[in-house]
Amino acid sequence: MKKDWWKKKVAYQIYPKSFQDSNGDGIGDIPGIISRLDYLKGLGIDIIWISPMYQSPMVDQGYDVSDYRAIDPCFGTMEDMIRLIAEAKKRDMHILMDLVVNHCSDQHEWFQKAIEDPFGKYGRYFYIEKKSDLIPNNWRSEFGGSVWDLLPGHEAEDLYYLHTFAKEQPDLNWENPEVREEIYDIVNWWLDLGIAGFRIDAIINIKKNLSWENYPADRPDGLASASKMLEQTEGIGEFLQELKMRCFEPHQALTIGEVFDPTGERTEEFIGENGYFSTMFFFDPIIPFLKESLKTRIQTFDPKIWRDIIFQKQKKGFFANVVENHDQPRGASVLIPEGDYSFYSVTALGSINLLLRGLPFLYQGQEIGMTNITFDSMEEFDDTAAKDQYKEAVDLGYSHEEALASVNRYGRDNARTPVQWSDHDQAGFTTGTPWQKVNPNYREINVENQEKEYGSILNFYRRLIAFRKSEEYGDLFAYGDLVPKYESEDTIFAFTRSHQNQKVLFLCNYSHDPKKLELEEQGNVIFVNYPQTTFEGKAICLKPYEVVVLELF
Ligand code: GLC
Ligand code: CA
Repeated sequence: MKKDWWKKKVAYQIYPKSFQDSNGDGIGDIPGIISRLDYLKGLGIDIIWISPMYQSPMVDQGYDVSDYRAIDPCFGTMEDMIRLIAEAKKRDMHILMDLVVNHCSDQHEWFQKAIEDPFGKYGRYFYIEKKSDLIPNNWRSEFGGSVWDLLPGHEAEDLYYLHTFAKEQPDLNWENPEVREEIYDIVNWWLDLGIAGFRIDAIINIKKNLSWENYPADRPDGLASASKMLEQTEGIGEFLQELKMRCFEPHQALTIGEVFDPTGERTEEFIGENGYFSTMFFFDPIIPFLKESLKTRIQTFDPKIWRDIIFQKQKKGFFANVVENHDQPRGASVLIPEGDYSFYSVTALGSINLLLRGLPFLYQGQEIGMTNITFDSMEEFDDTAAKDQYKEAVDLGYSHEEALASVNRYGRDNARTPVQWSDHDQAGFTTGTPWQKVNPNYREINVENQEKEYGSILNFYRRLIAFRKSEEYGDLFAYGDLVPKYESEDTIFAFTRSHQNQKVLFLCNYSHDPKKLELEEQGNVIFVNYPQTTFEGKAICLKPYEVVVLELF
């Protein structure tokens, strides 16, 4: 396997609005991030991906960009950004920006000019179509409702524009070479500023099926998810190859695609030796319990199904491993069976995240075991997607209470509550009023308390990251292969990692019941989440959510 520099690193996602406020306006900002770089360095983080900070009306919290070369004033200034890049460099850390180029904001000057002249240069930057037999078709946008809306000011002419996400996020027309040139300029401009690369947003959406054909409706609203169309669309590779050759390759950029590829058929094409990206997110551990119909969402978490899904694809590529992000609920709340949240279960989940094959990403607050929040009414939700999730549930016949419970469990706001830095007011996130409610459990779960306690989740994460990157085992975890073990045991999550003549066995009892396991091989204990490990002859007696890593003889 190619030994790229980033394969031995650990990455961390910052959702800037909720990370650290520095000026009391209740919104996290760049000076706030800079003030926490030493904390991240101390945790063992090398690479930081920051969700969008470009100028934006914030309809989709920054994923609606109105100027790609400006920092939104709520986060600071371009000087702050340049300082952040420099401060990170000083600490040997790397900054990744979020590249959001499937769409921009309806406030972007391109779209404003398209409204002025839909058939002119900028009209061709978007998908603008006159009403016909085909338009509007029945594709549903990601946040509910049709992907087509009437172009403002051109209602009488029946002109529609396409948006895969909110109506304030018009899709950019990648078929137009001028659009691609604009994008390459922006990407190169940022790379020249000294960022290490990008996390690439919704990139799988850039190629459309231009036949605009309808698909069988998949919900009571009569629409079909636009992702159906994506599955049947070919030719995205030409765009991505060009993007790579014009921008990423010359800058040796680190790129992580937001690519959903449940079958794994496209892994090689996307992230193989000659792939379009360095790596892509391994959503498999989180999606199966979230993205199916609501019925399956309500299904309880099953550790065996989860483990098997992970193993199925691990060998296919070197993915970016996550247990949560800004679009998903907290891993500690949905990937741990209800009632089982504890130091041991949280650290077991963290150990899996870090020791699988791939580039591990932590999401802010994961390192202290932050959890979901509960809102009492739909008004408390901020996220545009939450409203559609609620509507979906009600349309499917669920009661108000059930629908609210489902959004509470799976909504994106769960991950967007402010980071819990201390047990002071507003969890030390801001001296003002936070833009999003602080999770009331901040008095128990916060960084400051966990700093003081040797046995805290935070200090465990520090040891875990140090172990993963250690002199002795760093190469093995970065470059070693992975072979699943003890798969017939439903609650045992086990695998070997081997590299050259080193071999370790990762064992985890992902259950609240103890488990005695006959071991096929013996070894020295090199990493644990319990103070004591119990062997009985050739068997190991695993306590609830116990993790033991053995170096095999
Ligand atoms: C991605 C982002 C998500 C955003 C969407 C549209 O999925 O992660 O937060 O809403 O793209 O940009
Ligand atoms: Ca602020």
